[in-house]
Amino acid sequence: MSRQILVTNALPYANGDIHLGHLVGYIQADIWVRFQRMCGHTVHYVCADDTHGTPVMLRAEKEGVTPEALIARVHGEHLRDFTSFGVAFDNYHSTHSDENRWYAEDIYRKLQAARLIDTRSIEQYYDPVKSMFLPDRFIKGECPKCGAADQYGDNCEVCGAAYAPTDLKNPVSAVSGATPVLKQSDHYFFRLSDPSAVAFLRQWTTGANHRGVVRLPGEAANKMKEWLGSEGDNTLSDWDISRDAPYFGFEIPDAPGKYFYVWLDAPIGYFASFRNLAAKRDDIDVAAYTEATAAEAAGTELVHFIGKDILYFHALFWPAMLHFSGYRPPSQLCVNGFLTVDGAKMSKSRGTFITAHSYMAQGLNPEWLRYYFAAKSNGSMEDVDLSLDDMIAKVNSDLVGKFVNIASRCAGFIAKRFDGRLAACDSAVFAPCANAAASGDIARAYEARDFGKALREIMRLADVANQYVNDEKPWELAKAEGQEARLHTVCSTALSLFKSLSGFLKPVLPALAGEVERFLAIAPIAWQDVATPLPEGHAINSYQHLMKRVERKQIDALLEANRDSLAPATEPAKQATSQQRHAEHQAHGAAQEAASPTIVIDDFTKVDLRIARIVSAEHVEGADKLIRLTLDIGEDKPRQVFAGIKSAYDPATLTGRLTVMVANLAPRKMKFGLSEGMVLAASGDGPGLFILSPDAGAQPGMRVK
Ligand code: 2FM
Ligand code: ZN
Repeated sequence: MSRQILVTNALPYANGDIHLGHLVGYIQADIWVRFQRMCGHTVHYVCADDTHGTPVMLRAEKEGVTPEALIARVHGEHLRDFTSFGVAFDNYHSTHSDENRWYAEDIYRKLQAARLIDTRSIEQYYDPVKSMFLPDRFIKGECPKCGAADQYGDNCEVCGAAYAPTDLKNPVSAVSGATPVLKQSDHYFFRLSDPSAVAFLRQWTTGANHRGVVRLPGEAANKMKEWLGSEGDNTLSDWDISRDAPYFGFEIPDAPGKYFYVWLDAPIGYFASFRNLAAKRDDIDVAAYTEATAAEAAGTELVHFIGKDILYFHALFWPAMLHFSGYRPPSQLCVNGFLTVDGAKMSKSRGTFITAHSYMAQGLNPEWLRYYFAAKSNGSMEDVDLSLDDMIAKVNSDLVGKFVNIASRCAGFIAKRFDGRLAACDSAVFAPCANAAASGDIARAYEARDFGKALREIMRLADVANQYVNDEKPWELAKAEGQEARLHTVCSTALSLFKSLSGFLKPVLPALAGEVERFLAIAPIAWQDVATPLPEGHAINSYQHLMKRVERKQIDALLEANRDSLAPATEPAKQATSQQRHAEHQAHGAAQEAASPTIVIDDFTKVDLRIARIVSAEHVEGADKLIRLTLDIGEDKPRQVFAGIKSAYDPATLTGRLTVMVANLAPRKMKFGLSEGMVLAASGDGPGLFILSPDAGAQPGMRVK
């Protein structure tokens, strides 16, 4: 039965860079989504930026821009980062959107109608200089328990104690440095203490969805039991969902000066992004995925991938909000642990607080990281450790030494000796791949997000294939008399094994699998044809090297680029990263070339630079370096441009992006067709090539000047 699944990833805050800690959960979700699609299921995969709240408001103020300008910029950066790691959302929206306001108001009104919204006055710290109430994280003082200085208002990083901000000794506002005063204000509460809410959550958190799959992983369900208590006690407190002005967010209907707390409208952003996607397409029935009755009738699923730090919000507040407003609660929460690097918390002083962008800027292959994260994922909430030496060893041994090696040792003979055509595959040799597919073990491991198990089984098959090549020694058969037919069978069979392995690996390594499909001249591999050998007589393309080895020096350069000598020895993992950017600037500066001779402005204006939308991007048959781009610059007909960027980009990741092109370059006739312009890309002494992206808001055809 084909499934219909709405999959989401946690929405990243719009005030910080995407780092490798984020990517664990995004890569896991993307792998799962790709696997489901390979199986023929319908998946809508959405995300958005989480834009509201005090930190975004203050950050914008500090940068001297409006919150809207800040979130527009960050949106572009986040989307760029996810795309570069192959995390391919169908839609990447924003919680600061009309759709989100609509859903937030609708849910709020329905909760109000269900008598689940209360107001009462509470006393809170207020900054008399900034005239604003202070969130706990913006109050600092001495820990009431151990006396450590400079601790946040919610918990102490020295002794681990949790407390209320009013317990802090000598509190100061982290915004202005003023001594905060206590002030009363009316707040809105979602009445989670209501017996109906507690009863619903007890049932929801412990049950299974309509497919018989538990909604929460066992460890999480146990945590919930602690929070929810057992029959008879009532341990849930009402949830404060309002904040006072000034606040960057949505004003609560009929409550001037009161805003929805960021965590109220953040998960609603999942639906907002989905609705925004549906508006661009004509084949999505939004209600069938979002409304309780329609979703039940359609049998759709809602699956959230989240980090364990936000379990509380997704397992209590969010399902209750949905249920009591007539929407459908989630079918399943897939919860991942934190990332440690070389066994320790990510650290700016050690250079292990690595941003996604710096990883790409160093010219590292994103699929190395996808593979490594997948190998370390077992579907549990355990933390994932990125051991850098282990990653180098694993990628080099599994992907380069085992997987790619199969093709690189056999493909040349097919091209040179058999005109690129294959013989029939030896089915006895192919049997292990066929059996693995038939047993369903790998598929089950993918489904359970035990990607480590799937990869272990795939690498066992790669060992079998390599052993076959080692035993048959095609390089010796090629020199021996009368072994032509055997050589042909061996190389063809090895390539069928390689095709099958590529299919099994495709959810983890989509770009590499795409290269393999082009090399083998086959249609995109679906799960049902993973174990179909390549047919006799099938013609393949010439082999081009598929993956380079990771070098330790590349990893050292990455650490160096992320190292911040000013950072304290321990830092919270979720801090904003202005120092981070400083480190990146330094790294980029290292690759500077001497500037060119001075020109006058007229020289510059001769070059007509335009914003271009990449309508499509394709490999060029027989060209090592080129990608064929179709570019929309607002003209009647899009332009065709051949760009020498194949070493750095997978065409699949380029489609839809905005970039910059030279629009008045004389057209050039090339072997592959007419090139009608040029796209701009940056490069330095080291590896890597980087095309340009304009800030959000730029439109195709706009002049760059
Ligand atoms: O913890 C965070 O990074 C939040 N921005 C996650 C929000 S997930 C969802 F609820 F929007
Ligand atoms: Zn303490």
